[in-house]
Amino acid sequence: MDMYLNMKQVKRVVAVYFSPTGNNRKIIRTIAKGFNVSNTIEIDLTLPEGNKNYKGIHDDFQAEPADVVIVASPAYNGRVPGVFRERLARIKGCGGPLVIACTYGRISYGDVFQEIGTVMKNNHFVTVALGSFVGYHSWSNTKRYIGYGRPNYDDLLLAEEFGNACHQKISKAYQNEGAFSEEGIVNMNNYKTAIITLSNDDEIPGKFHDKLFRMPLLSRSKPTADCVKCNTCVDVCPTGAIRPVGSGKKELICDPKKCLHCYACVRACPHDARVLKDPVISIITYFLSKKYSR
Ligand SMILES: Cc1cc2nc3c(=O)[nH]c(=O)nc-3n(C[C@H](O)[C@H](O)[C@H](O)COP(=O)(O)O)c2cc1C
Ligand code: SF4
Ligand code: SF4
Repeated sequence: MDMYLNMKQVKRVVAVYFSPTGNNRKIIRTIAKGFNVSNTIEIDLTLPEGNKNYKGIHDDFQAEPADVVIVASPAYNGRVPGVFRERLARIKGCGGPLVIACTYGRISYGDVFQEIGTVMKNNHFVTVALGSFVGYHSWSNTKRYIGYGRPNYDDLLLAEEFGNACHQKISKAYQNEGAFSEEGIVNMNNYKTAIITLSNDDEIPGKFHDKLFRMPLLSRSKPTADCVKCNTCVDVCPTGAIRPVGSGKKELICDPKKCLHCYACVRACPHDARVLKDPVISIITYFLSKKYSR
């Protein structure tokens, strides 16, 4: 806890994220831009190790004392996707500051901050700021929009401002050799587009759950007759749920137990040839799109 207080300045920003449909990637890059520190690295934990596009880490990542680590996660039923929480175990700190960002599809970020805060506290980080941002809901489709176009220009402006304010707050704490105790630097005071800053990490909202979250649905993502077997859906799946089987490995099977219902495969298919139809998701999407289309 004391080590970071001897730092003179932030030397590096480390952006760690999980982003099947891209909102968290956009937001965390914009927050990092707001820090305006030339040494910025990304650890993308969206894909499983072994995926040909994997850009994550192969061993534990040990943060340096002068690093600021930002973690960004989507809210899945108000929870951190279980696979991401598991993957975060590899990010180790040494008492340095952590910024947590969450994107959510207009409804609620639920317990995401508390889950990440607790996991990362155990990994020796101190949470200093929380930012929640609206993103286009992963379950949206061409007929039913939830949070259409989000994060939009204003959301990104807010994210950049947030990054800048976090940097100032952390630098000030280093200069004063005191704890991160200033009052909220950017406090929008608005639950739906909240930016919350903390004076200490006991204030993180939400509840910690012992069990990792996974969607309790068993519907399958499937190819339609228009599928050209390009395997793009296989390459974007965060859990490796879609795998080629059969003669010549031409048939693509989705394992419903591994599926997060993140819709990355449906969105990424260049031929609109992948569908994931789930009755529960259809009903939820119908009602949410009526109220929260933008
Ligand atoms: C399985 C699942 C559950 C979700 N649950 C919520 C939720 O509880 N509240 C909410 O506002 N958005 C919810 N969303 C929407 C996502 O949080 C939102 O679209 C997020 O920005 C996606 O991040 P990404 O684009 O980085 O993958 C859910 C999305 C999925 C796929
Ligand atoms: S991305 Fe679409 S076209 Fe390509 S293999 Fe998957 S379902 Fe088929
Ligand atoms: S198969 Fe499931 S987990 Fe994999 S990309 Fe598609 S929706 Fe996401």
